[in-house]
Amino acid sequence: MIEVDDVYFSYDNYSVLNGISFKVKMGEVLAIVGPNGSGKTTLLKHLNGILKPTMGSVKVFDIDTRATKISELSRRVGLVMQNSDHQLFARSVSDEINFALKNFRFSKSEIDARTRKVLNEFGLYDLKDRPPLSLSGGEKKRLCIAAVMAWEPEIVMLDEPTVGQDAVNKKNLKEIIGQLSKNGRTVIISTHDLEFLWSINPRTIIIYHGKVLMDGSLRSISLNYDTLASANLIAPQLASLASGIGLSEPPADEAQAVEMIKQWQKA
Ligand SMILES: Nc1ncnc2c1ncn2[C@@H]1O[C@H](COP(=O)(O)OP(=O)(O)O)[C@@H](O)[C@H]1O
Ligand SMILES: [Mg+2]
Repeated sequence: MIEVDDVYFSYDNYSVLNGISFKVKMGEVLAIVGPNGSGKTTLLKHLNGILKPTMGSVKVFDIDTRATKISELSRRVGLVMQNSDHQLFARSVSDEINFALKNFRFSKSEIDARTRKVLNEFGLYDLKDRPPLSLSGGEKKRLCIAAVMAWEPEIVMLDEPTVGQDAVNKKNLKEIIGQLSKNGRTVIISTHDLEFLWSINPRTIIIYHGKVLMDGSLRSISLNYDTLASANLIAPQLASLASGIGLSEPPADEAQAVEMIKQWQKA
């Protein structure tokens, strides 16, 4: 369980989080959405203890982040950074994956087994000797996620995973998120890409000016156009379509949209 309770945070004198509160259950997929500069990354960094609240409290697994070492929490709360180039540093794809495992003092045989496992799972085996920075954008993102998954944190946070990713990479990302969720991980995704979230339909928190503006399923909050617009977010296309033709329930995907439009034409 994650409990963010009335958290305030400022960089020097610049306040970013202004009394933000919410809870996350274990096993939940949560999207944190908001425009650029709304404090998403700052908030994620509070959940693994890199940043501590100026006021209020953050508890993860019942541990107050102010009362624990960063190393302890980061073992259980993995963060995949927005910019892969900021995360990657090792000489090879394999080394990138086993670096954290060595740090967390896994045994040699465990390190080898886990490295091999994620290389295979994330389709990186053939790239294992390549320098990480020579990979494509999508491969880099997969490697960043694989490197975090290797130590199996209970909570996986993906900071703006879709930025710079093409349609195929986004589809792969969705599959990875689905798989993580199926395996019981708690997944937290920060993004302003509501379109990407549509088929996942996670619980979604809109943050704006450092506070929670709305909290609900992605599809239900997507119907609140005025709120989305006031938070500088673009409504997903299927939500606009549903409202344009007066459907109370937005379609889950394009195929369902086509069916609904056919029904609507007949009526
Ligand atoms: N290290 C920092 N020092 C000062 N200001 C920062 C720092 N990091 C972020 N900010 C500012 O805090 C605000 C929120 O940033 P951030 O959490 O990165 O937002 P988001 O991830 O939603 O784009 C922005 O206005 C940003 O310029
Ligand atoms: Mg950010």
